[in-house]
Amino acid sequence: MVLPNSEGTSAPRLYAHIVGWGMAVPEKILRNQDLEAIVETSDEWIRTRTGIRERRIAGERESTASLGLKAARKALDVADLFPSEIDLIIVATSTPENIFPSTASLIQNWLGASRAGAFDLSAACSGFVYGVDMAAQAIRSGSIKAALVIGAETMSRVLDWQDRGTCILFGDGAGAVVLKSSTVEGGVLSSVLRSDGSGGDLLGIPTVGSEDLDNPDFFTNGHKMHKMYMNGGEVFKFATRVIGESIEEALVKAGLTIEDLSLIVPHQANQRIIQAAARALKVDVDIFVVNLDRYGNTSAASIPIALCEAVQADRMRPNDYIAFTGFGGGLTWASMIVQWTDLKSAETRTGVLSNQRRRQISYWVVRWRSQLRRLSKSLNQFLQRINPRRGRIMRLRDKVDQL
Ligand code: COA
Repeated sequence: MVLPNSEGTSAPRLYAHIVGWGMAVPEKILRNQDLEAIVETSDEWIRTRTGIRERRIAGERESTASLGLKAARKALDVADLFPSEIDLIIVATSTPENIFPSTASLIQNWLGASRAGAFDLSAACSGFVYGVDMAAQAIRSGSIKAALVIGAETMSRVLDWQDRGTCILFGDGAGAVVLKSSTVEGGVLSSVLRSDGSGGDLLGIPTVGSEDLDNPDFFTNGHKMHKMYMNGGEVFKFATRVIGESIEEALVKAGLTIEDLSLIVPHQANQRIIQAAARALKVDVDIFVVNLDRYGNTSAASIPIALCEAVQADRMRPNDYIAFTGFGGGLTWASMIVQWTDLKSAETRTGVLSNQRRRQISYWVVRWRSQLRRLSKSLNQFLQRINPRRGRIMRLRDKVDQL
């Protein structure tokens, strides 16, 4: 379709396609049986109430950014794009490395994505769908050409391991997609993003708020700082209501009906929530991608991880209509309809393997360059202490920064 642009001439309409995907989960597995030694629970209770059997837990040297980076590199390989071709990096996360600098900026630096803007997005378990929508809007408007959207979490670091109501549910991991602009029709067709802040006290992680503030809007309400709290029953009711409603709304926006959908990739919170959503939508539960038995709830990472596994299992065909649906803290929820397109064969890119090698070399160069920069900073500090003649020091730093 060709639409008139602001100058009155005709510009081809742009579409935002998912052209790359990747996931990364820690190796360490925590089984339900292992949890029996930590809190008063049982494998049987967890399996029957949630569907979860095991989850992954980040090792000491793993973090939200390192898992996100691994997933991002895989997604770039599938997309066959270089980091320098990425204009925007969004990391949806509730467990960022810092309040700032953002996890997205850390990943931008490690990738060497020198032309990309980067920011973290806080919409809890709905964050990935929010992020894909933001990136798709920017692509469709013509302001950017390619974006990386990552959902990454180390939930194990914010769990209260004495609270059996929450610690049995969550796990760590990351998933990423690359979105790219094209005039080929398809890709992200519609989205519904919603929030109801009045339910903010149903689940959260107090971080900077203070119990001393009189304003009741600043609540920690006796919850532990930096630890997750949740009212499971209320969240359960909220989730089962909003999944069906928001998918229906996104379908209407895309001019489709539930019969058109081939697959639903839901946030992986609880098997019973997914079953209730299937009943509400009057569809077979098999239309939902489910992998929560192996990863638990990985918050913003759960949808892209499930998407990767669905692609690996060959559950998507070109032109299939699929839905993403997420819900969580905020309260927030979001659904999106995507027409899955095989853009690679539509636009025929070649040389994937040699480009993969070039990307690996560029990551290696970026790593050494940042280590060299760090080293030069320490050297400069040292030189400054022993020799305050700043001219020579500045010249040395400039040289390294130019590398
Ligand atoms: N092991 C054993 N017993 C447990 C337990 C555990 N891990 N957690 C709670 N219980 C107990 C409760 O204390 C309660 O005991 P009681 O009847 O003696 O008081 C009983 O099990 C039932 O608790 P309840 O909270 O009603 O269970 P539930 O069926 O609602 O399941 C959740 C609890 C958390 C699994 C469920 O509410 C849920 O999944 N909610 C949604 C959570 C979610 O998705 N959050 C993330 C959103 S992004």
